[in-house]
Amino acid sequence: MTITDRVPTPAIDPAAELTADSPAPALRTELPGPIAAEIIARDDAVTSPSLTRLYPLVAKRGRGLVIEDVDGNRFLDFNAGIAVVAAGHGHPEVNAAIHAQVDDILHYCSSDFYLPSYADLSVKLAEIAPMSGPTKSFLCNSGTEAVEAALKLARHRTGRPNVIAFLGGFHGRSLGSLSLTASKVRQRAGFGITVPGSFHAPYWDPYNPDALTGADYIEQVLFTKLTDASDVAAIFVEAVQGEGGYIVPPAEWLTELRELCDRHGIVLVVDEVQSGIGRTGTMWACRPADGPGIEPDIMCIGKGLASGLPLAGIIAKAELMDWEPGGHGSTFGGNPVACAAAVATIDLVERELADNARTVGAHLLAALESLAAEQPKITQVRGRGLMIGIDLPDHDAAEALQEAAFRRGLLTLTCGERTLRLAPPLVVTIDQADTAVAIIRDALND
Ligand SMILES: Cc1ncc(COP(=O)(O)O)c(C=O)c1O
Repeated sequence: MTITDRVPTPAIDPAAELTADSPAPALRTELPGPIAAEIIARDDAVTSPSLTRLYPLVAKRGRGLVIEDVDGNRFLDFNAGIAVVAAGHGHPEVNAAIHAQVDDILHYCSSDFYLPSYADLSVKLAEIAPMSGPTKSFLCNSGTEAVEAALKLARHRTGRPNVIAFLGGFHGRSLGSLSLTASKVRQRAGFGITVPGSFHAPYWDPYNPDALTGADYIEQVLFTKLTDASDVAAIFVEAVQGEGGYIVPPAEWLTELRELCDRHGIVLVVDEVQSGIGRTGTMWACRPADGPGIEPDIMCIGKGLASGLPLAGIIAKAELMDWEPGGHGSTFGGNPVACAAAVATIDLVERELADNARTVGAHLLAALESLAAEQPKITQVRGRGLMIGIDLPDHDAAEALQEAAFRRGLLTLTCGERTLRLAPPLVVTIDQADTAVAIIRDALND
């Protein structure tokens, strides 16, 4: 196979400009187009069947919310690469930071040596951490590694064996984090024993707010029947449950969890891998705009942190992050290029993107609520900022809507049992939000 065999002839003029203002959606072929179909066929033959590949999108380039596929079709991106590309595709400030760092150095193992962008980012994280006292951070590459780090740190500091997480929660797929994940049974099927001593409680239920869940369930059921509180190292919770269906619990639900941890000397780990970095309209979902929120002992971050480069980590209260050199580390974790992208991203989120997420998110939620009032197929709309879920009668209906949106040039993704999630880059405009709602309305009416 030659290079020319491998790289299909582009159907689009590579010189044609793509900007964040390029009209989208703008479809010019059947989906998938001929080049996309060829790539998909090659890919499917040699890649792991565990990859879900929800619809035949073969993304080639992106600007803002506009994704162009290999055949020149333009889509409106309400996925952000699964809640990742916080600053939008190709943001000039993020790209400039990346290019400058690429020209300096690509890698020198941040676990063993010092690098300026690692220090810059860690200082920034200490500044924006949602904890009152001093904090320290540890950087890695993916959300699952961040959860592993939190799990190890909590066990190490408490000397306790057990952990508690929530049904519907997603924390990753490596064996430690998988022990906490309780999202879809397929993610566990056939993988044998996960970490012993991992227990689950029900998350707040948006259809039955009075159900026994959260701190009450842990106190009344887990602590009386399954584990003594003094054996529990940590409780892991998503401030807004992501993969479980974009569920926003009331403020007091999280406060009660904080109080429970304080009563029993348990480390509260707030997983903000999906909800953090401005996505819900404030830097962290555990610190909402309309109340004090809660203070985590350890927080997991990832996804949007570097606007698309792989970077994740934990931020912990300084007195808690007390482990020996060599106790934890990573060859690639805290890569300098990813750190430079993260510093630029956080700067943008602080300056304008969290505010934009709050404003456009509120507009989008209101528009979807109006749609729900006229469209009986929608059973519930909920969310905060740009983390919005639309519930349909069942999973098939949610998948059908996802597919119908794709056919109309809108990129979305299902989550939970029957939810279509909207998680666009934080640069989304009111006009783009209105376009997305119009497409969803049209798809539902069809
Ligand atoms: C809340 C949460 N935690 C952890 C993870 C795992 O992140 P990663 O896929 O980067 O390992 C995810 C991924 O969706 C997530 O949503």
